[in-house]
Amino acid sequence: MATREPDNLDSKFYKTADAFFSAYSHLGLTFDDVTLATLYSEVLPRDTQLDTTLAEGLQLNIPIISSDMDTVTEARMAIAMALNGGLGLIHYNMPEREQLSEVGRVKNNVHGLIQDPIKVAPDQLIGDVLHMIERKRFAFSTFPVVDGTGKLAGLLPGHVVKPRYSKRKVGEALTPRAQVHTINKKELGRDPIARADKFFTSQPGIHKLLVVDDQDRLHGLFTMSDVERITQERNAQFKPARDAQFRLMCGAAVSATRNAFGELDRNRILNHVGALVERGLDAVAVSTAHGHSKGVGDTVKMLRDAFPALPIIAGNVTSAAAVEYLADCGANSIKIGQGPGSICTTRMVAGVGIPQLTALYVASRAAQKKGVTILADGGITKSGDVVKALTLANAVICGGIFAGCPEAPGDVMEISGKLYKQYRGMGSLAAMKEGSAARYGHTPDPARKVAPEGVEALKEVSGSVDRVLAQVIGGIQSGMGYLGAADLGQLREKARFIRVSPAGQKEAAPHDVVELKTAG
Ligand code: XMP
Repeated sequence: MATREPDNLDSKFYKTADAFFSAYSHLGLTFDDVTLATLYSEVLPRDTQLDTTLAEGLQLNIPIISSDMDTVTEARMAIAMALNGGLGLIHYNMPEREQLSEVGRVKNNVHGLIQDPIKVAPDQLIGDVLHMIERKRFAFSTFPVVDGTGKLAGLLPGHVVKPRYSKRKVGEALTPRAQVHTINKKELGRDPIARADKFFTSQPGIHKLLVVDDQDRLHGLFTMSDVERITQERNAQFKPARDAQFRLMCGAAVSATRNAFGELDRNRILNHVGALVERGLDAVAVSTAHGHSKGVGDTVKMLRDAFPALPIIAGNVTSAAAVEYLADCGANSIKIGQGPGSICTTRMVAGVGIPQLTALYVASRAAQKKGVTILADGGITKSGDVVKALTLANAVICGGIFAGCPEAPGDVMEISGKLYKQYRGMGSLAAMKEGSAARYGHTPDPARKVAPEGVEALKEVSGSVDRVLAQVIGGIQSGMGYLGAADLGQLREKARFIRVSPAGQKEAAPHDVVELKTAG
C-alpha cells in the first residue's frame, strides 16, 4: 500500500505521538484537547479491521470492553459485548458464587436461545402478569407457563394478556401443553440456530419454540424474530469473540481481597479464580483504583504463578513505572485511567489522577518496552474519543456509554416523562456499601467514615448494545479511513496530533444552529 510521508510543513504542525506529547510534557491533556490530522488514504472505512490481541489467547474482533461496574456488566451485557466481537468484564460487587454463575451464563450461552426465559405460573392472575410487564418494561407479552415442579404447563399467548382478562388465572387462558411446540434439548445439535430456523420454516405462523428435557422441564425459548436476525447477522463484518471451543468470551474482575488481619486473602482469591477458570473464564481483571501498589502486584504475581496461561488484566495506573511494575508481576494487559470516568470524583476527592491522553501516552511507551498491552479505561463519551484512545491503547473500556442500554443491570425509572437507568461509580458510597470498598482501599465497615470517589447518577435510557456499538464502530472506521489506517496497528503508527484551542473545541461541536436531532 502506498503511503505518503507528510511533507515538512505538515510535520511542523501535525506531530507524531512522541514529538507531540514530549512537547506537552508540562501539561496534562485529554481527548478534547487534541485532534488528529487527516492523511493520504487508500482505505475505505468499511474495509478497516478492528481486531486486537490483548494477550495470548485473548483476541477480540473489536477493541471495546464493558466496565466491571455493578450498573454496567453482568451476564446479559457480557453476552451482548462478546456477540459484537468485544468483551464484558463481570463486576465483583456480588457474592463470589453469583459471579461464578454469571460467568457460567456467558460461557454456556447459545446465541438465539433464551436460556432462562421469564416464566409465569398457572395460578397467577393475568392482571399480575400485566403489572410485571409494566414494571419491568418488557417489550413482549408471551410467556411459558411452568408449574410448581418446574414442568411445562403451557404457553400464555400475548393476545390474552389484556386488561379485560385481568381477573382470569393464567391456567384458564394458556395454550395447553399438548398444543405447544417444543424440542428436546438433546435434539439441538451443534448448530441450534439452524435447527430452530428449520423448525420455523416448517411451521408457518408459529413464532415460539420451547426447549425441554426428558422430564418436560423448560430449558429455553427460541423466538422467530431472534433467529431471523441472527441468520442475517451471520454475514456481519465483526464476528463474535469466541474461545477455542466456540463459546463466547468472558472476563471477570476480582479485587485484592484482604482477610480480617489485613493480609492478602490468598486462599480465597486463588479458590475463586480457580473456580472461574473452571467455568471457562478468558481473562481475569485485578481491578482497583490504585494498581501501583503491593496488594495488586502480589495478587497478580500469585495468579500468574497459579494460572500460567490465564490472561491477566490489572490496574488502574497512569505512570510508566506502574505499567512496568504490573508487567513485571505478570500482567498481560494494563488498565490506564485514574479519574477520567464520567462518574469519578477521584481527582476532586483525592487530588490525584492524570488527564487521560497524557496518561495513555506515558503508559503506552512503557508497555511497548515491556511487551504488554494497555486498555484506555474511562472518560469516553463519543466515538471520536475512542479513535484518539486507540492511537495509543490496544482497546478501550467504557462504562457510561453502555449504562443506559437494556442489557445493563438495573430497572428503568421514569422521571418527568423521560426514562433513566441508574449509573454509579464503584467508589460511590452506595456501591462501596455493597462490597466494592476494597477497590478503593477502604474497609467495608459502614460505621467507619470513608471518602467516596464516585457519584451515583442516572443515564438516559439508550438503544441496545448492538446499536450503541454500531455507532461507535462506525466512528472508529471513519477515523481510520481519514488516517489511511487499514488496521489498529497502522492507526497507532500513523496518528498525528495537534492541540486544539478553546475556540477550536467550540468549532468541533455543532454551533450556530438550532439542533433538531442530536447525533447518535
Ligand atoms: P466512563 O467514563 O466510561 O468510566 O463512565 C468508567 C470507568 O470509570 C472507573 N470508575 C471509577 N473511577 N471512581 C473513580 O474514580 C468511581 O467511583 C469509579 N467507578 C468506576 C472505572 O475504571 C470504569 O471502567
